[in-house]
Amino acid sequence: MRYSRILGTGSYLPEKTLSNADLEKMVDTNDEWITQRTGIKSRHIRSESDTTVSMGTEAAKKALEVAGIDKNKIGMVILSTSSPDRLYPCAAAEIQANLGLNNTCCPGFDLNAACSGFIYALSVADQFIRSGFLDYVLVIGSESITKMADWTDRATCILLGDGAGAVVLGADTEPGILSTHLHADGSYGGLITHTGDLYDKTVPPSYFKMHGNEVFKIAVTKLGDVIDEALAANNLKKQDINWLVPHQANLRIIQATAKKLEISLEQVILTIAGQGNTASASVPLALDAGIRDGRIKRGDMVFLEAFSAGLAWGAAVVKY
Ligand code: COA
Repeated sequence: MRYSRILGTGSYLPEKTLSNADLEKMVDTNDEWITQRTGIKSRHIRSESDTTVSMGTEAAKKALEVAGIDKNKIGMVILSTSSPDRLYPCAAAEIQANLGLNNTCCPGFDLNAACSGFIYALSVADQFIRSGFLDYVLVIGSESITKMADWTDRATCILLGDGAGAVVLGADTEPGILSTHLHADGSYGGLITHTGDLYDKTVPPSYFKMHGNEVFKIAVTKLGDVIDEALAANNLKKQDINWLVPHQANLRIIQATAKKLEISLEQVILTIAGQGNTASASVPLALDAGIRDGRIKRGDMVFLEAFSAGLAWGAAVVKY
């Protein structure tokens, strides 16, 4: 059997932070509301020099350092982002050049499945490795999502944060990624949108908009379903899962997911309090945090999940 295994992880967070107290001065909100409804206390906000490409590059460098492989062995760069710096060139190609990867033999492309993008990218990378096409793939989630924030809309601006996380995957005969499960339902597309028009310069600036309450309910149901699906696919019991690494959109959604998995919050890697919702960077950021501080150990069974605009959602069962 051929599997893809996680060889190294890395992350990058901008230096500047924005606390709930800071937000109280900007919109009609308060720390108590934000903490109770979301679990967020503070978030990292990019400076002018923090771009989707620069943050992705830094996270990838750290992941490559840990992986300890010759970087020229990387056969592909997949970047999940819903907030590219520009449409051309794609950010993955820019990151490939920044890292000095083997230029002609290392394709790179951006993938957008909103906050679920990293799970989608991990799944694509896993298919390339399992099929024998590639031995090593660099998967990055990088988001400068706060540039989409409407800093006058208290319902959304309090949620977002910037950052990047990365994973180096390598082929192995031992698992590895056991399975990935991807879903989307475009009929709910209007619930999370980027307003305006990217190309029409005559319309007002565009912003991140969300019908949070409706999204919340669908997220809890669909994440519950994908847990059942992923466990059944691997003939696993809930007790076999050591760690939940969730997308960090809302602490109450994470609590509901942990309850469904029948695991305690001590077995959940939580970054939401200090990072907020970093879109598709949130899962690799949390994964890196759990691995670097020694909680997630080799051999542990890890459940990754995300839910997002699209609506799209997905999960991965990974033996670290
Ligand atoms: N500060 C204070 N009050 C606020 C507020 C803020 N920042 N934002 C909204 N409110 C108010 C609303 O105006 C509303 O007031 P009303 O009852 O007088 O009309 C009230 O709080 C409740 O708003 P509601 O939107 O129902 O709150 P909620 O409990 O659903 O929490 C979210 C809002 C966004 C935190 C929550 O719905 C959520 O996290 N949804 C899912 C997000 C998600 O998973 N997205 C997918 C990935 S991006």
